[in-house]
Amino acid sequence: MKAVLCKAYGPAEDLVLEQLDEPSAGENEAIVAVHAASLNFPDGLQIQGKYQFQPPMPFVPGSEVGGVIDSIGPGLEGFAVGDRVMAIPGIGGLAEKVAVRAEGLRRIPDNMDFATAAGFAMVYTTSYYALKQRAQLQPGETLLVLGASGGVGLSAVELGRVMGARVIAAASSDEKLDFVRRAAAPAEVINYGDGELKEKVKELTAGRGADVIYDPVGGDLFDQCCRCINWNGRLLVIGFTSGRIPEYKANLALLKGSAMVGVFLGRFKKEEPAAYEANFSELLNMYEQGKLNPLITQTFPLERFADAFNVFTKRQAMGKVVLQVRDEQA
Ligand SMILES: NC(=O)c1ccc[n+]([C@@H]2O[C@H](COP(=O)([O-])OP(=O)(O)OC[C@H]3O[C@@H](n4cnc5c(N)ncnc54)[C@H](OP(=O)(O)O)[C@@H]3O)[C@@H](O)[C@H]2O)c1
Repeated sequence: MKAVLCKAYGPAEDLVLEQLDEPSAGENEAIVAVHAASLNFPDGLQIQGKYQFQPPMPFVPGSEVGGVIDSIGPGLEGFAVGDRVMAIPGIGGLAEKVAVRAEGLRRIPDNMDFATAAGFAMVYTTSYYALKQRAQLQPGETLLVLGASGGVGLSAVELGRVMGARVIAAASSDEKLDFVRRAAAPAEVINYGDGELKEKVKELTAGRGADVIYDPVGGDLFDQCCRCINWNGRLLVIGFTSGRIPEYKANLALLKGSAMVGVFLGRFKKEEPAAYEANFSELLNMYEQGKLNPLITQTFPLERFADAFNVFTKRQAMGKVVLQVRDEQA
């Protein structure tokens, strides 16, 4: 089978497309014939050796896919060959076939195509966990989302609206903000391309600041967020795409009565599997009811894997990036 292989840490251009032996299903696993595989920012970190989880070399990157169950290993219950699934193998997704453990398999709604299935799990489960469990976002509260055009950012804008918040979407360019407006209709937008986030948030909130801030960017923007958060505010630490892990000034927490709240989806899944499952079911229900509108904006054939990875390194993400592995996009 064809697969994209990482043999040494480096840029996406160093990855190679090779023929590998097909995987076979182990205990409690299924083999999924991959139709589409999505990429997320961490995939780009992983091939450079900069992620918190590094698989042994060589490895096939790609943590989530949409496809059809091709075979089933001993002990796997509840699925059959031919089932259309969204699958989270964790690793190995950029290949024609991948082995997936039972807990990483979910049947997909009839109205969901494979590309959407591939790009759904990571962004929505992260943002829902962040807003629901970690921030306990309430209807009527003001939610500020940074990096709002990117994968997790856009899902946070959508979910914030569904949860009844007044959402301020913030991004680095007018082009990105136009995209977010069309895709998720936030109440307001802020262009922080000039570095002036704090002032603009205060202007839109009559000086009080946002109640909840969703920050996948870190760096200087995080520093400003600590200063434009409302009394009892919650600042959600999602990631550090800016490349700098900021330091938190405890005096600002004291003065603002605010909290910095960590969000780590992988650990949540392990520590609170029932809550994770409940969140996932609620998200799929929201999708089926037409409340969520996942947007695949950039699709590449598998052969163009480097271009797909570079969307993230060039700071060009708008919605989800997907690699089409098989032609049929049922
Ligand atoms: N905590 C968790 O459990 C969890 C789960 C999933 C993902 N994450 C993290 O969430 C972050 C976003 O992931 P994603 O897949 O949504 O990425 P993405 O689609 O690339 O979006 C990231 C956004 O970050 C902003 N950004 C600012 N500086 C950047 C830079 N130097 N390079 C690239 N982007 C930059 C960009 O928006 P602007 O240009 O508008 O600033 C971009 O839209 C990553 O750090 C990822 O590791 C965390």
